[in-house]
Amino acid sequence: MATQKTPSRRSRPATAAPSSSARIDPAEHARRREAVLKALGGAVGLVFAGDAVGEEPYRPHPDFEYLTGIDDEGGAVLLLDPRHPVPSRRAMLFLRPLDPELERWVGMREPIGGPLKTRYGIPTIMRKGALARELSLSAQRSRRLACLHPPAHHDAPISPDLDVLRRVAERVVGCSITDATDVLPKMRASKSPAEVELIRRAGEATKVGFLEAMRAIRPGASEFDVESALDRGYRAAGSRRHAYRPIVGTGLNATVLHYHANSATIQAGDLVLIDSGAELGGYASDVTRTYPADGVFTPRQREVYEVVLRALDAGIKACVPGKRLSDMDAAARKVINDAGFGEYFIHGAGHHLGLQVHDASPDEPLRPGAVVTVEPGIYIPQERLGIRVEDDVEVTRTRPRNLTASIPKTVAEIESIMRRG
Ligand code: GLY
Ligand code: MN
Ligand code: MN
Repeated sequence: MATQKTPSRRSRPATAAPSSSARIDPAEHARRREAVLKALGGAVGLVFAGDAVGEEPYRPHPDFEYLTGIDDEGGAVLLLDPRHPVPSRRAMLFLRPLDPELERWVGMREPIGGPLKTRYGIPTIMRKGALARELSLSAQRSRRLACLHPPAHHDAPISPDLDVLRRVAERVVGCSITDATDVLPKMRASKSPAEVELIRRAGEATKVGFLEAMRAIRPGASEFDVESALDRGYRAAGSRRHAYRPIVGTGLNATVLHYHANSATIQAGDLVLIDSGAELGGYASDVTRTYPADGVFTPRQREVYEVVLRALDAGIKACVPGKRLSDMDAAARKVINDAGFGEYFIHGAGHHLGLQVHDASPDEPLRPGAVVTVEPGIYIPQERLGIRVEDDVEVTRTRPRNLTASIPKTVAEIESIMRRG
């Protein structure tokens, strides 16, 4: 076996910058709110954080987080009224009332006042009891309401803003509701430099986890040992949580796209597929690497692996302004088809990445600032062979920038690292 492990290396995971600086400046959130106010063209909109009940750990609706940076105020609502006569009231934040008894159990919350307004960078904050009155006044002034939240499917609950806006429109004569559901996806699909930097740093933390995971891979170890190594690396690198449930699949499990049990024992001669990403400052990374259990690829594994790497390269090259995700998919797929493995590439080649691992995806060509994954794969269950390689790529005005390029992926790099242990 080529994987001689050295405990001293395992006990000293590399570290990245501390997570304390991993945040978007409140001034950037204010600029985002200004941009939405402008896009509303005079109509009144609402953005709901969503309730904290039943979700652990709590994450607000990403549109709310995108516009406020607030991730710990379940039930909050942002009211956007571009024509409010008082400019400081054009973006108003409504928070649940304080509940001292509850807060003794779940954590203290701050009263509304100068420090809270400064911290959030929002000059007008009220308790939710005032929302009905303020919304009514805004509707009476503007007579135009705009739906911002993504449309719900017919078998899901109606989106929270449309639900409320409809009730307002029934009560205020002459009020109409317009469709602004594309405003936030379009904004979110082109990241600011600060957002790209957080995704890049999330990728750096992911690298620490993957290097730890490589050291844990050996025949006889369990997929869970590898998942634990990812955890260790992410935490050491300042990431507080995974961006999504990690996949660690060996052998046949590597061919199961949404395998999550992560409980099997790694067998000699198999491949181990890891699809995982650290989160930093609310931003996700999303990386896949596939490693040989023994530290060395068999000739067949290597043959298929090299096809996937070439498909990845072709996909990354297609991440340029004006192209669509479907063009990127076609570029990666052509390599796999031409190599004769087309029937074994059974999923899309990528998606937008940001506050969510599958981030807002407007139906439009890629623009500079878009961050997307490129993730071709070949899955041949009858050979116990599943290979996917996934990188996170920023679309720029010039050439694509691979934000996770430093996570080893060539055959030579992987075999060299796994030999060293
Ligand atoms: N990890 C989820 C995905 O790759 O899409
Ligand atoms: Mn992934
Ligand atoms: Mn992905």
